[in-house]
Amino acid sequence: MSTKFVIDGLKAEIEGKEILKGINLEIKGGEIHAIMGPNGTGKSTLASALMGHPKYEVTEGSVSLDGEDILEMEVDERARAGMFLAMQYPSEIPGVTNSDFLRSAINARRGEGNEISLIKFIRQMEGKMKDLEMNPEFAHRYLNEGFSGGEKKRNEILQMMLLEPKLVILDEIDSGLDIDALRIVANGVNAMRAEDRGFLIITHYQRLLDYITPDYVHVMMQGRIVKSGGPELAQRLEKEGYDWVKEELGITDETVGQA
Ligand SMILES: Nc1ncnc2c1ncn2[C@@H]1O[C@H](COP(=O)(O)OP(=O)(O)OP(=O)(O)O)[C@@H](O)[C@H]1O
Ligand SMILES: [Mg+2]
Repeated sequence: MSTKFVIDGLKAEIEGKEILKGINLEIKGGEIHAIMGPNGTGKSTLASALMGHPKYEVTEGSVSLDGEDILEMEVDERARAGMFLAMQYPSEIPGVTNSDFLRSAINARRGEGNEISLIKFIRQMEGKMKDLEMNPEFAHRYLNEGFSGGEKKRNEILQMMLLEPKLVILDEIDSGLDIDALRIVANGVNAMRAEDRGFLIITHYQRLLDYITPDYVHVMMQGRIVKSGGPELAQRLEKEGYDWVKEELGITDETVGQA
């Protein structure tokens, strides 16, 4: 079955301040959508709100994945339904090894009674780690503790590959990656492209999109998607910045923080 993810009129606030001011977006299976936009325009807030981060209160709109109401679900239920977020700043969890974390996450996604066998899990994890050119010792280290910036990002992609989500959100997965790691991570994403999987990729740089070709590019300002286009839009932004978009739309302050 082909996947369909729909965001309709989504508004969200934090501590009484509205950050998302009506987001509309439809992602079909097989599609890669990139979201770009200046700092502080609501991109990470969108990612967090979609995953059900408790700090963000959704006040209006709907979100569905294959017809299921995502906003009604708890965070773990969203993950089980197939939602995945690679965070801009992954958390460190001392005391929990990476492999224990990965196995619990996989089993949570698979559901009770359908747990993965230890042998199969280890085989899969080792295989994907090899694809991502990760040192096997990362399986036994505490989750993200002392990982370098690039190691954290690679580890997020490892999670994605093992969890096989239906809707993948990557928030600045390219930040902190060296040139070789960028290529490896992009290969990992490309290998996961499938008819039953959609991608929402938040990035500041065309560089990532040289490796992962998006079908659509959206620009976020003031907590809204203010412009959409194809890959050429990202190329123009890389060359010319955001001033022309702001001028075209009569926007003076693109952030959502003030107002
Ligand atoms: N937990 C929070 N408490 C207070 N303000 C917040 C919180 N989360 C987000 N905001 C505010 O919401 C606005 C949007 O933040 P967000 O992180 O979504 O921006 P962004 O588009 O991801 O920016 P960047 O490109 O810098 O990552 C900012 O002004 C930010 O300070
Ligand atoms: Mg952000």
